[in-house]
Amino acid sequence: MSKTRDRVAVIMAGGKGTRLKPITLYINKHFFPVYNKPMIYCTINLVIKAGIKKALIICNRQDKVLYKKIFKHLHKQIKLYYIIQNNPHGIAQGLMIAKSFIKQSNVMFLLGDNFLYGKHLKNILSKANKRQSNTLFTHSVKNPSQYGILKNYQNHLKIIEKPKKFIGRKAVVGIYFYHNEALKELKNLKQSKRGEYEITDFNNKIINKNTKIITIPRSYYWKDLGTFDDLYDASQFLKTKNITTYV
Ligand code: DAU
Repeated sequence: MSKTRDRVAVIMAGGKGTRLKPITLYINKHFFPVYNKPMIYCTINLVIKAGIKKALIICNRQDKVLYKKIFKHLHKQIKLYYIIQNNPHGIAQGLMIAKSFIKQSNVMFLLGDNFLYGKHLKNILSKANKRQSNTLFTHSVKNPSQYGILKNYQNHLKIIEKPKKFIGRKAVVGIYFYHNEALKELKNLKQSKRGEYEITDFNNKIINKNTKIITIPRSYYWKDLGTFDDLYDASQFLKTKNITTYV
């Protein structure tokens, strides 16, 4: 993995949003307001902070025109491309769909519902961008059964997706930096019982090879905006911190 490669970003911004019905019956969740901005602005902000200039938005057919509208003002900061995910078959399917966009580059892969804020975030993200290896982030959570949880089994790392039994609190954040070489593992990925290409299955294939794990400081605010309560909390956070400076 010695050749220095550039990095592009790929953002998952489709899906069905079943947990946020009935609102998601008429609007995709990534357009929901987090205080005074659409949720997806936060994700784009992370890409810009990392220093990446080119990103692919993976979305549902009807949403492409809306994304173009809300991102129009960013044209000088980042070049955006779009691809349709016809039938959502899991998060890792996004990496497969994005293959012709990624080509030989490294990739920053983001889940469009991940909200992350903290001091020196730019520093953490731009370091991960420059690293010629994979980087995964973890953050301590109160409700581990809702996430992919990282566990160390005698120096062998493994992520368990939404564990039913308590195995720890280190949730894997939905912001992943992959070296291009790691993407070769996509061909070995099988659909899970629920018919999805699971990002956790993919991460388990690479996590013990050339992967740096960064623990995000507890002082950082991280949320997967999967419920109305999460949206409410993140909005409160932005309002009380008076954060108006992102995209
Ligand atoms: O947020 C972190 C967690 O995200 C990780 O800890 C888990 O390991 C990971 O599996 C994921 O879990 P979620 O249950 O939160 O994933 P969800 O199905 O909510 O999808 C995450 C984002 O990806 C969301 O913005 C919608 C988008 N998506 C999802 C699927 C399945 C798509 O655009 N297309 C899809 O097919």
